[in-house]
Amino acid sequence: MSDSAERWQDAAFRRLERKMERQLERVGSSIPYAPIKGRYIDCMMPGGLSWWTNGFWSGMLWQMHMATKEERYKETAQKVDERLGGALSQFEGLNHDIGFMFSPSAVTNWRVTGNTDSRRQALHAANLLAGRFNPTGNFIRAWDESMWGDTTGWMIIDCLLNLPLLYWATDETGDPRFADIATRHANTALSFISRGDGSCCHIASFAPKSGEFLGSVEGQGFSKDSSWSRGQAWAVYGFALACRHTEDTAFLDKAKNCAHYCIANLAISDWLPFVDFRAPKEPVKHDSGAGAILACGFLEIAERVPDLEKRMYLDAAYKTLQAIEKKFANWDPETDGILRGATTMYHNDRMPSDSFIYGDYFFMEAILRLCDKNYMIW
Ligand code: GLY
Repeated sequence: MSDSAERWQDAAFRRLERKMERQLERVGSSIPYAPIKGRYIDCMMPGGLSWWTNGFWSGMLWQMHMATKEERYKETAQKVDERLGGALSQFEGLNHDIGFMFSPSAVTNWRVTGNTDSRRQALHAANLLAGRFNPTGNFIRAWDESMWGDTTGWMIIDCLLNLPLLYWATDETGDPRFADIATRHANTALSFISRGDGSCCHIASFAPKSGEFLGSVEGQGFSKDSSWSRGQAWAVYGFALACRHTEDTAFLDKAKNCAHYCIANLAISDWLPFVDFRAPKEPVKHDSGAGAILACGFLEIAERVPDLEKRMYLDAAYKTLQAIEKKFANWDPETDGILRGATTMYHNDRMPSDSFIYGDYFFMEAILRLCDKNYMIW
């Protein structure tokens, strides 16, 4: 690693520390999603506690606790996790994103503190996730209700990041069913969501009874045939994580295939990801969140390849992180939200680009990975 890269990552970590100290005081045990006029609001999305991003603030607090050993982060994370447990009894609104909610919170809490309530929450969440498995189609159903109508036979690329909850549950209980479901789902994603050129669709639709593949659906990208960059990022990081948990190199090869496609696209856009890599040139829409997740995925791949292969992935992670930091980082400790320029979906003018807690989480994780301070949550 060059001296300038090391200086950059050390400076980024110091800025993160300053920002998090003040955010901790303001946000406390609220559960934030996006800032409004520079301030986070507690559980602002419909569904309240069940919103898919609700584990990320806890994840940021656990990461800061593990990186700095400061107790105040841990104490607040514990309060957040206790609140978030309420989503399980509420049940309504929970879907496959329960892994995003409970890996950074309850699983991490249990691993770090041995809190048995957290272990119970995490196993409860894993059982709900496993219960969404369609055994004929070999996929985990994504949503129950959505703005797109009947979703009974839908799986989506994002779910790869929910699978670590299932791998954890097998490690924890010795029951192989959880990991088996995760691996079957990952194989279905490999066959039906990712395309041969390394791009992928967002949603694959199956006949819920026969499991027959019906086709791809548009989702959060420009069109069903395009390439939503955050979906690409979930593919890169998710397939690399599937390899971490199974040691099956077919998943690593797929992660590399998806990464190469993304690196080629980033290299022609100054390392700033567009919301969709296959959208019209105008209007220009970026998604910094996709960049942060991609950087984590590139770094995960770099950990799993021989030395002579590492450079491309490390270099791509640095270039992406430095580009999004320069253009989008909000280091002002007096306002909430770190990574501006995140965009939830291509066709959404209701929710303009801003900071979203998941983008902030993965930006933090990527910087901590570079600084060798990351606590492996997934
Ligand atoms: N459900 C994850 C995402 O919107 O990226």
